[in-house]
Amino acid sequence: MIKPVRTLEVELRGIAEDRSYPILIGQGLLADLGALPELADDAPVVLVTNETIAPLYLSRVRDALGQQRRVTEVVLPDGEDQKQLASVEQVWQRALEDRHERGSIFIALGGGVVGDLTGFAAAGFLRGVRFIQLPTTLLSQVDSSVGGKTGINHPLGKNLIGAFHQPSAVVIDLDTLASLPDREFAAGMAEVVKYGCIYAPDFYSWLMANASELAGRDQTVVAEAIARSCSIKARVVAQDEREGGLRAILNFGHTFGHAIEKEMGYGSWLHGEAVACGMVIAARISARRGWVPDDTVTALTDFLTAFGLPTSPPEAMSVDVFLEAMALDKKVAAGKVRYVLLRALGTAILVDDVTRDEIALAIAG
Ligand SMILES: NC(=O)c1ccc[n+]([C@@H]2O[C@H](COP(=O)([O-])OP(=O)(O)OC[C@H]3O[C@@H](n4cnc5c(N)ncnc54)[C@H](O)[C@@H]3O)[C@@H](O)[C@H]2O)c1
Repeated sequence: MIKPVRTLEVELRGIAEDRSYPILIGQGLLADLGALPELADDAPVVLVTNETIAPLYLSRVRDALGQQRRVTEVVLPDGEDQKQLASVEQVWQRALEDRHERGSIFIALGGGVVGDLTGFAAAGFLRGVRFIQLPTTLLSQVDSSVGGKTGINHPLGKNLIGAFHQPSAVVIDLDTLASLPDREFAAGMAEVVKYGCIYAPDFYSWLMANASELAGRDQTVVAEAIARSCSIKARVVAQDEREGGLRAILNFGHTFGHAIEKEMGYGSWLHGEAVACGMVIAARISARRGWVPDDTVTALTDFLTAFGLPTSPPEAMSVDVFLEAMALDKKVAAGKVRYVLLRALGTAILVDDVTRDEIALAIAG
C-alpha cells in the first residue's frame, strides 16, 4: 500500500463527487506508485517527463508501475520553451502510435512545465483522459499541480492556451526535493509564504518562526509547509474552481511579478523570484493604506531575503514600465488592472483603484 504521511482531499463543491481527488504527501511515494488505487487495474500509462528529471526519477516510477503494464515514455527537452503545442502534439502522437484509449492514464513527472503541458495533453486526448501529477519542484508541489489549471504558452503570451482539467491524484514525493537546485527551491518558497499572506496569518507566523529550518531544508518542517500550502490552495480552488472570484487572490504579487518577468525576459527572473518582489510591492501599498502594519512588510522582506529572493525590482523597471506591462496582462478586467492587496494579514482583496503614486512609492522602497 502507498503510505503517505499526509493525505488531503480536494473537494470540488457542487460538482460530481468523482471530480474530487487526493493529494498524497510523503517520502518514498514514487516507489510505491503502483499501489495507488487509480493505477491498481494495470491501466496503460503515458508517462511524460523531461531530460533533467528522467535520469533522476524515471526508472523509479517505471519500476513502480510494474512489468505487466503498457507504459509509453515521452522524455522532452527541459525548459519553459517546451511548454508549447509541439510538445503536446508529440505526447498525442506517441499515445496514438501506442494505441492508447480512453482508459489510459497520463502521468506528469516533473515541475510545472511538464505538469501543465501533460495535463493539457490529457484534457484533449480523446476528449479527455485521467491524469496524475507527480510534481518534483517545490513550486509544482505547492501550486501548479493542485487546482486543475493546465496549458501551454503561445508566442503572444504565457499560459494563454489551456483547459481546466483536474488530476485524478497528486503524489508529492518529498525525496525528489533532494536534487532540486537552491534557486528553484527558493522560488517555490515565495508561493508558500504567499498562502500565509493571503489566507492564513497563523501559517504566516509559523513560516516566520521557522525560516531558518526551511532555508536549511529540514525535512519535517518542509513537509509541514507543503501540506499547509496544498491545503490552502485546495480550499481556495474548491470554492472557486474556474477563477470566478476568490481564486484570484492566489495572484497576490503576480500582477507586479508578471510585469517583471515580461520586461526582464522570461527565464532571467524565475516566476517565484518575480512573485517575491511583487508581493513586497503589494504589501507596501497595503501598509501605506494602513491595512497591515509596517512590521509585516519587514518580516516578509526578511523571510524572502533569507532564501536569496529579490525584494526590489530591477532598476530598469520604472513606474511607467510597470504600468504599461500590467495593462497588457491577461488578468486585466474591463480595461482596469486588478491588484491583490492585503486588507489585513491573511485577508486578501481585489482592488482596481491603486494609483500611479502608490506604485511609485512602493517600488522606491
Ligand atoms: N497550473 C498552474 O496553476 C500553475 C501555477 C504556477 C505555475 N505554473 C507554471 O509552472 C511552470 C513553472 O514550474 P516550475 O517552477 O516547477 O518550473 P520547471 O518545471 O521548469 O522546473 C524548474 C527546473 O527544475 C528542474 N527540476 C524539476 N524537478 C527537479 C528535481 N526534483 N531535481 C532537479 N531538477 C528538477 C526542471 O527540469 C527545470 O529545469 C511555469 O510554466 C508556470 O506557468 C502553473
